[in-house]
Amino acid sequence: MSDDGKMHAGARYYGALTLPLYDAAVLNVAVPHAWGVPLSVERGMYDRLVGARHLDIGVATGYFLRKALEDRDEAEITLMDLNENATRYAAEKLQRFDVTEVVGDALEPFPVSGWFDSIAMFHLLHCMPGTVAEKAVAFDHAIAVLAEGGVCFGASVTPAGRTLNLFGRAVLAASNRTGALNNADDDHDALRAEIESRFRDTRIELRGVMTLWEARDPR
Ligand SMILES: C[S@@+](CC[C@H](N)C(=O)[O-])C[C@H]1O[C@@H](n2cnc3c(N)ncnc32)[C@H](O)[C@@H]1O
Repeated sequence: MSDDGKMHAGARYYGALTLPLYDAAVLNVAVPHAWGVPLSVERGMYDRLVGARHLDIGVATGYFLRKALEDRDEAEITLMDLNENATRYAAEKLQRFDVTEVVGDALEPFPVSGWFDSIAMFHLLHCMPGTVAEKAVAFDHAIAVLAEGGVCFGASVTPAGRTLNLFGRAVLAASNRTGALNNADDDHDALRAEIESRFRDTRIELRGVMTLWEARDPR
């Protein structure tokens, strides 16, 4: 485990008891039923966008990578997370590939080397503390290691000002109370503006209350 003192609640919950439950509870239940996004939409993005040299920020179980790489023989993968439990767990599941594990905070320059064809930040920003503008510094750190022609893609729950179903409201309230999520004030248009201010070529959409983006060509 990395320095616990630095670990905010949005990263602290990922451990030996919770990681094995994550795919079933979060991806198969909360994503479609609380946030209104079919898991197939998110899987489709990973399948399409993971490049030969890929950096994943905020990995939990590595579910999307595992699925996206099912039919591939080779991939060079760097897994970065504030919580070492997550990188270790995901790396074990991806051990047939060339995997590098890195403990790092997305709010600080990424401690990785080289250039990446693809950088994913899936379900990460909504865990992180701060305003959308403060979280968006993670894009600057991604741009610093993005290869020419590379893509930065991700998903984050942006519920501010949106209507959620009863289940969504309950999950949002409980997770923001415990600090597992820090996104009650995260707004889709604010996130869109942060992405568009940094990249010339963007594809950004709101599905349910999830902002999905792919961004290329940093300004
Ligand atoms: C909700 S999980 C998302 C996992 C995976 N990307 C997915 O979509 O299923 C969030 C992950 O981000 C990590 N995390 C939270 N805050 C972070 C930060 N500031 N820097 C790096 N990782 C962070 C957590 O430890 C956790 O593994």
